[in-house]
Amino acid sequence: MKQYNVAVAGVTGAVGNVLLSIMQERKFPVKNLTALASVRSEGKKIKFLDEEIEIKELSENSFKNIDIALFSAGASRSKEFAPHAAESGAVVIDNSSAFRMDDEIPLVVPEVNPNDAFRHKGIIANPNCSTIIMAVAIKPLYDISPIKRIVVSTYQSVSGAGAKAIAELEKQSREIICEGKKVINCSVFPVQIAFNVIPHIDVFLENGYTKEEMKMHNETRKIFNDYNLSVSATTVRVPVFTSHSESINIETRDKITVSQARKAFLEGSGLTLMDDISNIVYPTPLDSSGKDNVFIGRIREDISVENGLSLWAVGDQLRKGAALNAVQIAELICGIKS
Ligand SMILES: NC(=O)c1ccc[n+]([C@@H]2O[C@H](COP(=O)([O-])OP(=O)(O)OC[C@H]3O[C@@H](n4cnc5c(N)ncnc54)[C@H](OP(=O)(O)O)[C@@H]3O)[C@@H](O)[C@H]2O)c1
Repeated sequence: MKQYNVAVAGVTGAVGNVLLSIMQERKFPVKNLTALASVRSEGKKIKFLDEEIEIKELSENSFKNIDIALFSAGASRSKEFAPHAAESGAVVIDNSSAFRMDDEIPLVVPEVNPNDAFRHKGIIANPNCSTIIMAVAIKPLYDISPIKRIVVSTYQSVSGAGAKAIAELEKQSREIICEGKKVINCSVFPVQIAFNVIPHIDVFLENGYTKEEMKMHNETRKIFNDYNLSVSATTVRVPVFTSHSESINIETRDKITVSQARKAFLEGSGLTLMDDISNIVYPTPLDSSGKDNVFIGRIREDISVENGLSLWAVGDQLRKGAALNAVQIAELICGIKS
């Protein structure tokens, strides 16, 4: 089997870490791994396939002989360095928001629009984590009937905001429980996250939505190539370490019954159905964390519209919402069957 020289930019981060585990788990044929991060991490070592690999500083010259460059070092680093990687001959798969809405750059969820990956010109964008989870969840329903409108509320874990956010929830929880502190400092989140719920992810825009909420609208339309579909999202940060949950209401052109939906989810790709309320079975973040699939439960007819369904979807956003989706795209373009 052909082997590939792979670079990971942002290797020390929450997503970078999971990218390494997923490539190892799925036996992605890595010939050489180049580990890249900021100057702060230069010289430190990471372990990959029993080898200690020294981290180098991400620079324009990091990509000589690289076949695949997985970027998860933030949008400004992607904007600055991904074009150099592509010019050096690598295919970039970018986890940031830098290129997602660029018409020339495909935005890919392999379960939904795999063919778009092949029209890349050197860069492929990975969608926003909440968008990926929702796209995988609604795809089997979309195949039965076009979806006209989605109203979604997210319950997003702190690891969605990176390694420093995980540390902030740990620290605040410890300070409140163990030290009885009353005044809690916040640096990553705008207000205290421990024992709280924050209806604010990313910056507020003029229309009153946040950027994260508008990403769910704009990216879903691009992935499904359906600009009649509208998404109204409220994105919320909750004190959970890993996995995003989403309450999703969809309005379809044609009626989809609950049993049709269940069958479609059972046959759909990348999904696990956990929907048996008589036995108190529904998915929670603890069920999906560390797993690849998006978990679906609480399927019911939406009583407020004629053709509507309500459901609950939960997915590990570091895996399917980021690293796994990126590695699946790499497998796709390399012709590797997963
Ligand atoms: N977390 C998620 O669930 C998730 C999901 C989907 C997409 N994403 C996206 O993935 C990207 C990474 O997110 P994350 O959560 O992994 O963040 P993170 O934990 O904060 O990690 C950031 C990474 O970027 C590196 N970095 C920061 N500044 C740099 C610089 N000037 N030059 C080179 N490297 C630099 C850091 O290296 P040092 O350790 O050396 O500082 C670290 O490896 C972001 O664009 C984010 O929006 C995240």
